[in-house]
Amino acid sequence: MLTRLPLTTRILLVILTVQALLFAALAAASIDNLRREIATETRLAAQTARSLVVATIGTMQGAVPPDRLLSRLTDQLVPPRHTRILILDPRDGMVREPAVPTESHAGAPGWFAALVTPEPLETRLPVVLEGRLRGFVYIASDPAAEIAAAWREIRTTLSLAGLAALAQSLLILIATRRALRPLDMIAGRLADLTRGDLTTRVGRMHQPDLVPLAAGVDRLAGALQQAQFDRARLQRQVVSRGDEERKSIARDLHDEMGPCLFGLRVEADALRAAAAGPDIAAQAEAIAAIAEEIARVNRALLDDLRPAAVGQLPLVTVLSDYTADLARRFPAITLDLDIASGLPEPDEATALTLFRIVQEGTTNALRHSGAGRVRIRLWTDPAHWRMILSDDGKGFAEGHREGTGLTGMRERITLLGGSLHLSSDESGTTIEASLPRTQGG
Ligand SMILES: Nc1ncnc2c1ncn2[C@@H]1O[C@H](COP(=O)(O)OP(=O)(O)OP(=O)(O)O)[C@@H](O)[C@H]1O
Ligand SMILES: [Mg+2]
Repeated sequence: MLTRLPLTTRILLVILTVQALLFAALAAASIDNLRREIATETRLAAQTARSLVVATIGTMQGAVPPDRLLSRLTDQLVPPRHTRILILDPRDGMVREPAVPTESHAGAPGWFAALVTPEPLETRLPVVLEGRLRGFVYIASDPAAEIAAAWREIRTTLSLAGLAALAQSLLILIATRRALRPLDMIAGRLADLTRGDLTTRVGRMHQPDLVPLAAGVDRLAGALQQAQFDRARLQRQVVSRGDEERKSIARDLHDEMGPCLFGLRVEADALRAAAAGPDIAAQAEAIAAIAEEIARVNRALLDDLRPAAVGQLPLVTVLSDYTADLARRFPAITLDLDIASGLPEPDEATALTLFRIVQEGTTNALRHSGAGRVRIRLWTDPAHWRMILSDDGKGFAEGHREGTGLTGMRERITLLGGSLHLSSDESGTTIEASLPRTQGG
């Protein structure tokens, strides 16, 4: 239950509980002390009052007639603090009280008075003069003023303790908030990591408790960055190996099939020339035509497996030749090739990918869009190769599905660590591709 609360609240709760207990113990101890002090004080006061009464009567004896002594006693006595003195004169049946100096009794609430009020003390002194009982003097304890003073004292002490507790809580609140603030910063760095910014680091922490956490986050970021780097390298290797493989197949096809087909054609020609009759000549011609067709398919296959020029000629030349050839074959379409000047030469995997994007993008535009104009832009920013290929055709048909062309393009770009964005509406389709630049390209 407590563990679900925020740390600051937990610390405050613990401290406030301890303080409340201390507060209660302090109050209980103070009240106990005060009760004893008040009891002692009132007992002493009663004794003093008694001695005072006896001494005053003693000094008045002889100077004042005994029958008038009690009535004069009222004027002579000034009762000490915390006592009341009442004089009963049986001659007139009156109870007189000497004038009491006024004291502030205000303030103490009933429950407090009940806690500290001592047992009441009452003394009755018979006054016997010249063998006759002249009356009584009553002395009673009156701790009200003492209780009021005690209340003021305890109230001040407890108010100060309360203020101290409040100040302490505030200081602890501020200190823990401050101490926990770096956690927000660490959370921010973790959010950066989640967003994919693996270069983010927490850095040096001044708060000793958070140093291991910060170091852990930075180690995690480093490990993720290394893993990302390794993955990118491996993916690039996968693409390059695939390209190498296809290149090798293309070479074999070219080197093995080419001479065979050439030989077949030569032999078919020779057979036709030496044919005894028209039937054999016609068959020899058919064989030559089939050989020609196989050679054409082989060339197309070779081109598909490995566009000969990519990697051998500069990319700009390969793209210009490709679009020029396309423009010649499809004169109804305007093809704009806009290549930024002074581009570096990309590595072979990137060059082949850029070529494939142009090849697939233009083929799609010609096959599906009905566009009159296709525009290709190629440029670089500090970290990427950027390409935009757009047409002014009718856009993707409703419910279209990505085929091998777009899927293959996306896979190849993703494996190289790039991104592909397609957008389409009734005014045309745009393909935006971005590929990371490698060292030198
Ligand atoms: N420029 C475009 N304009 C309009 N529709 C397009 C365009 N490019 C692609 N499409 C739509 O997207 C679909 C998928 O394209 P994709 O290139 O993946 O496959 P495909 O061209 O049909 O076949 P292939 O695998 O031979 O390329 C297409 O069939 C077409 O409907
Ligand atoms: Mg296609």
